[in-house]
Amino acid sequence: MRNELIDPFNRKIEYIRVSVTDKCNYRCGYCMPEQGVHPDGTHKEYLSYDELSRIIKAFVDLGVAKVRITGGEPLVRKNLADLVGQISGYEGLEDIALSTNAHHLGREAIALKEAGVNRVNISIDSLKAQRFNKITRGGDLEKVLAGVDKALEVGMNPVKFNMVVMKGTNDDEIEAMVDYGLEKGVEVRFIETMPIGPAGVAMMDQHYAADKILARIKAHVGADLIPAASKSHDGPARNFKIAGTNTKIGVISAVSQHFCETCNRVRLTAKGVLALCLGQEDSVDLRTPLREGISDDGLKQLIKDALLKKPERHYFNENVHNIEFRQMVQLGG
Ligand code: GTP
Ligand code: 5AD
Ligand code: SF4
Repeated sequence: MRNELIDPFNRKIEYIRVSVTDKCNYRCGYCMPEQGVHPDGTHKEYLSYDELSRIIKAFVDLGVAKVRITGGEPLVRKNLADLVGQISGYEGLEDIALSTNAHHLGREAIALKEAGVNRVNISIDSLKAQRFNKITRGGDLEKVLAGVDKALEVGMNPVKFNMVVMKGTNDDEIEAMVDYGLEKGVEVRFIETMPIGPAGVAMMDQHYAADKILARIKAHVGADLIPAASKSHDGPARNFKIAGTNTKIGVISAVSQHFCETCNRVRLTAKGVLALCLGQEDSVDLRTPLREGISDDGLKQLIKDALLKKPERHYFNENVHNIEFRQMVQLGG
């Protein structure tokens, strides 16, 4: 029988989000400050691919079935496909996914697919080039859309789009994103802004609630949104099939309707910190013991002990101050 990681609230942890860098070639306002996160770490502060693989292996041995590679922007780290190749054979690892801004995806998609990435989530907050450039502080929509097409062409399945909806900035494009999803046969997930780090907190005056998004989508497509069942290691989206089509949409409503009771995930930062909750401080350093020569069994025990500290939920509404200490770009979303 496969091992299982169960937390104190009886949740099975089977999904790890692994950040491979806290750097990004874009600068989305809800994710990081304009100047980036300074000071940048020195090279040796970041886990090598061998170190990342070793930690991922420990998690897979303990029952984790899904790895999502995140950043910052994961594709700014060199030869990411090498890491994927290192982990793709691990017994019990069913799913290797990537969350990216897709700027470099046109260049990397083939190598990633061949190495074992089967699913990719792509951030697109606007389909208007100038607005996209402004939201991302420098992003190139054309490159991103080319990255989308390449991901579809090489057979990544599923590809999903992530749109963070911001009142007064891009909320007039909800319908256009639904149409783009329908055109490409791709699920779009509409995400509420979350108060993670100073950048995320500052963006909360643009918060736009998921229920309003769903009502607008329903009116736009003129069809029912049929709730779709989620699978065991799915992420936090509530998914709906658009009646009469094969396309789904989703909402991620962390603020208006949190989903912590079904949380199945933890995060590893690029510097080797295991973050137990996106919205809480609780974390455990894995890099120091790793570099001091901990055994595989010791590492697994450390992870099991760390899991005992996983909080029950975030308190985005009640206690925003708790989460000002780190930026989303350091946590990978
Ligand atoms: P799937 O594997 O396709 O379900 O992806 P995912 O939704 O788990 O990952 P993705 O990187 O696409 O994240 C989409 C959004 O969900 C981002 O805004 C994340 O910050 C948010 N998200 C992911 N996991 C959590 C979580 O545990 N808590 C909260 N509050 N938000 C999360
Ligand atoms: N609120 C909601 N979503 C966020 N993301 C980054 N920062 C925030 C935030 N403050 C999203 C990105 C990306 C995903 C990994 O996380 O848009 O799609
Ligand atoms: Fe899980 Fe924490 Fe996210 Fe809630 S906020 S879903 S407990 S990681």
